[in-house]
This record gives sequence, structure tokens and C-alpha cells, in this order.
Amino acid sequence: MDRNFAMEFVRVTEMAALAAARFMGRGDEKAADQAAVDAMRRMLNSIQFNGTVVIGEGERDEAPMLYIGEKVGTGQGPRLDLALDPLEGTTLCANGGVNSIAVIAIAEEGQFLHAPDTYMDKIAVGPDAVGAIDLNATPTQNLKEIAKAKKKHLEDMTVIILDRPRHKSLIEEVRRAGCRIWLIGDGDVSAAIATCKPDSGVDVLMGTGGAPEGVIAAAALRCVGGDFQGRLNARNTDEVARAAKMGITDMKRVYGINELAKGNVMFCATGVTQGTFLPGVRYFSGGAHTSSMVMRSESGTTRHIEAQHHFDRKPRI
Ligand code: FBP
Repeated sequence: MDRNFAMEFVRVTEMAALAAARFMGRGDEKAADQAAVDAMRRMLNSIQFNGTVVIGEGERDEAPMLYIGEKVGTGQGPRLDLALDPLEGTTLCANGGVNSIAVIAIAEEGQFLHAPDTYMDKIAVGPDAVGAIDLNATPTQNLKEIAKAKKKHLEDMTVIILDRPRHKSLIEEVRRAGCRIWLIGDGDVSAAIATCKPDSGVDVLMGTGGAPEGVIAAAALRCVGGDFQGRLNARNTDEVARAAKMGITDMKRVYGINELAKGNVMFCATGVTQGTFLPGVRYFSGGAHTSSMVMRSESGTTRHIEAQHHFDRKPRI
């Protein structure tokens, strides 16, 4: 995959973030998401490649744009698959909360798991705990193994978990194990990446969130050398049927990071609202400042891209 594509795709997340950021704190999740989707799609279609959305806004009948299977790009150039979320953390953006981001992961054709829009049980850690996780083991066993790998006491470990009623017993177990907990309202892609950032103070992500976000997080962690496991967790028989339609019949299967996102992958994210590792969009007279990260699994390079956008000079896309 041409490494220069990374620079093309960061413009895509920048545009989505700039569009969504207008809706920060305005209480309108739908409008924020729609703005991000429209901007991301416009920008994608200006890039010379033959793209297919494999993880997107949902299936065709429920998502008018950037739906699973949608073709994007000019149609000329390399065939690439995209796993994207134009606004990850829609509620966070609508409420002006932290860590909403625009994200896109890119791989060669057929390299992402075609995950249905169900839930996924997830566990994610940074490079210093690769190989220490096992979704088939209990949370306590995982925490002990991760602590051992990181040479930390359990009491010094911080576990990041989505604040949901479904996580009641997980939270109780993590507390019994003696670890600290950071409960977040939304945004488990950012949370998974935080496990790979020593400054974040986060050691492990645990719990159940969106399956599409799981594939995107796995792609990000491939680039920074972290570890991730996911197991689909359908909420009803309809979701089981949807998974089967996508070729997945074993709902108990634990997918490793290399099964969720194979081969060479790229990952771009731009902060929409203020975040743990990406500042959000900041406006100045006549323009705005964005902060993005671009990562490639092949080289393991992470670039931080700061951009000043001048609205009066931007060509229309
Ligand atoms: P959206 O950006 O689609 O709103 O997703 C936010 C999110 O918090 C994800 O990060 C997470 O995987 C999922 O929602 C959890 O789903 P739920 O809100 O149903 O618990």
C-alpha cells in the first residue's frame, strides 16, 4: 500500500472533524453525525483509489451514506477496504464531552473482518502486555497476567470501561481484584488507543462495545504494537442472522488482533472535541486548527499532524 495514501486519508478525517465540530455541545447527535458523514464521503471521493466501505455507518437500508459495501474514491487506482467511523462518540460531541474523534482505517482488499453491527466483547492492551490477554479467561486472570507482564501491582493498574449497566459485574470483579477504574461515557476506540499511550495512565480496556469499533481499534493497535481480542456478542436472533449473512456462524470465536485487521493497515484520526491524546478542533478568526494522528503498521510510525485550515482559501470539494 502506497505510504503516501496516509497523507491523503488524514485530510478525510480532518474534514469530517471540522464538519462535526460545528455541532459540539449543540445537543443534536444526528446533525453532528450527518455533517461528519457528508464531509468524509465528499473527501473520500476526491481520492484516486478504488475503495469499498467494509465497516461503516451500517447496512445499506439503514445508512444512506458510507454504508457497508459502498464504493468510494474515483474508482481508479488500488483496491482498498475501509473501516471508518466519521464521528466516533456522537453523544460526546453533542454534549461537548471529551474524546470524540473522526477515524478511518485502511487495508488492502479482504483484510478486515466483515463484522456485523452487533456488540463485541473486547480486551485491549499496549505493547508491554502483548500476549498476556485471553478473552476466554476471567477478568481477574487477565488482570493478573497483564500486571505480571507490565511488572506492576494490581493496585497500580487502571482499567478503562464503558459506563453501562451491562458492565456491573465486570466493574465489581475489577474492584475486587484491587485495580483502579476509569468509567467512560462513550468512545472505546480512543480508550483502546489510550492503552498504548504511556502518558494516558490507562493499562487495559475491558468490556463490551460496538463490533465495528472493535475492528477499527484493532487496526489502530496493529500500528502501535498493542494487543486486542474481540468476540462478537449478538443482542438478539436478528443480529445472529446478520452475522451469518456475513459468513460468521461461530459466535463464540475469539478473534485475535491479526484476524480483525490483517496485512498492512493505516489508521488516521482527527480530534473533534478535546481528548486524552488528540486536541479537538479549535477555531480562530477565519479558520480552525486540527490535530490528527496517522499511523502505519508496516513501519510502526506514528505522525502527529497539526493543521491550520483557512476557510476563505479552501477549494470546494
Ligand atoms: P457512536 O459514535 O456510534 O455513538 O458510538 C459510541 C460508542 O461509545 C462506541 O465507542 C462504543 O463501541 C459503542 O458506542 C457502545 O455502544 P452502546 O452505547 O450501545 O453501549
